[in-house]
Amino acid sequence: MRKVINIFETTDELSQFVAQQLIKQIANLSEGQFFSIALSGGSTPKSLFRYLALNYLKQIDWKKWLVFWGDERCVAPESNESNYRMACESLLDLVPVPKENIFRILGETDPVKEAIRYTETVKKHLPSSHGIPQFDYILLGLGEDGHTASIFPDQIQLFQSNRFFEVATHPQSGQKRISVTGSVINQARMVSFIVTGESKSEMVARILEKKPGWEHLPASLVHPENGLLYWLLDKKAAQNLHKTDKLN
Ligand code: 6PG
Repeated sequence: MRKVINIFETTDELSQFVAQQLIKQIANLSEGQFFSIALSGGSTPKSLFRYLALNYLKQIDWKKWLVFWGDERCVAPESNESNYRMACESLLDLVPVPKENIFRILGETDPVKEAIRYTETVKKHLPSSHGIPQFDYILLGLGEDGHTASIFPDQIQLFQSNRFFEVATHPQSGQKRISVTGSVINQARMVSFIVTGESKSEMVARILEKKPGWEHLPASLVHPENGLLYWLLDKKAAQNLHKTDKLN
């Protein structure tokens, strides 16, 4: 695995870097191949999605995209908590990804059954490597508690599950979530954490500088064996990093 940590002055510069990553990966596809991406949820990706829709409508070959989610809250798609709704409003309704290439996690259905159904959907549309579905690109966020996707520190065992998608529970709200697990994350060709804001700076430093307890955090377990791992940070999220030159 190769890990790259990039720190950007602004979220627009971070978004521009992601856009270039996407363009390069799509350019490398063979004829007839699709680009599979798992989107993250929460608030951070909104600015990235809006930036892509606004600035890369023509420069990205959206018809090559197969869109999945790394996690989804178990809510209806109309809910303002839905990661699907957020992605549609900030990106997918604004770019020409064919509707049949968008694979929503059905947050409104039974979580256990949906984790199984979604696993089959992902397996059907992605190539596999060592028996594990392989995404071209997985976008991840970082929670202030060190969670990523919807794998929380108190359920870190889910990261190591031999299932590809699991049902998780938000530790505070009790909300059920469907989440990708570590076997799929660590099989991806490219994984990018996008982390912005001062509120994440302590957790970013704990993970990247391996401070006490770092190994018990789900985000610390992300290391795509044969892929590229990017930590894409704005300056505020990186403000507690003091050994940046030794981090990559
Ligand atoms: C979710 C996300 C989750 C998110 C982090 C950061 O469904 O909430 O997938 O993992 O990336 O919680 O969320 P913010 O971007 O809102 O800080």
